[in-house]
Amino acid sequence: MTRVRKIRLLLPADFCEGAPRVAFRRRIIAWFRRAARPVSWRGTKDPYRVWIAEIALQQTRVEQGTPYIERFLDRFPSVQTLAAANLDEVLKLWEGLGYYARARHLHKAACCIVRERDGRMPASAAEWITMPGVGRYTAGAIASIAFGEAVPVLDGNVKRVLARLGNLGESIDNAAVEKSLWEEMTTLVKGAAPGDFNQGMMELGAQICTPRAPRCLDCPVQPHCRAHAAGTVADRPVRKKKAATPHHEVVVAAILKNGRYLLGK
Ligand code: ADE
Repeated sequence: MTRVRKIRLLLPADFCEGAPRVAFRRRIIAWFRRAARPVSWRGTKDPYRVWIAEIALQQTRVEQGTPYIERFLDRFPSVQTLAAANLDEVLKLWEGLGYYARARHLHKAACCIVRERDGRMPASAAEWITMPGVGRYTAGAIASIAFGEAVPVLDGNVKRVLARLGNLGESIDNAAVEKSLWEEMTTLVKGAAPGDFNQGMMELGAQICTPRAPRCLDCPVQPHCRAHAAGTVADRPVRKKKAATPHHEVVVAAILKNGRYLLGK
């Protein structure tokens, strides 16, 4: 693993309220409360509902995932209703969202919560991470939003925000860089309202600090941003060059009988 210099993340912005981290955190939280997209699944701390939303939002944009989250929660309003459902019905409701392993894991975890935990939802990041389909990022999102636990999240949006704040010249695909970004988020999240802070960082990446044409003039933490100060926002984050997409020739056959195609799972 490459050694990575200790990342200096924040410019000491001229903010009268004290240390840059405190000022930074306050700005993110205040901005999130003002500017977050008004989605129905957000106005709750119910761990079941937060869990469903966070699983649906893995590798999925908020606008794309929201109608699915709403339909899913209408049909399965509790962990008991989800555990009692047939897996085929769960998969049907997921149709169009992709990555079906997520729906399978939800169903499996719901069965585990009902049968082995008497319906008691996990109540910390350490418990959530033992559930199928829940990794460090999702465990952090659920535990911070539903239980106010000061644990970090790090998704693609948050990585981009951090890479620009710190004006990182190293690739964010580098494992050592990723480790140091987790460490930064672990420090940053320790304060009031960790759920709003984490969601604020994700929202900032989705709404303001976008991959192309970031809206730096509207950014609540622009005074902390090293890339903005250096004029390198467009060059951050640095990514590893992608390998060329391999092309394979494939042969496909379809079985058609009496006007109907044979389909298999
Ligand atoms: N991406 C995943 N979870 C999110 C959340 N709770 N808010 C904003 N973006 C997200």
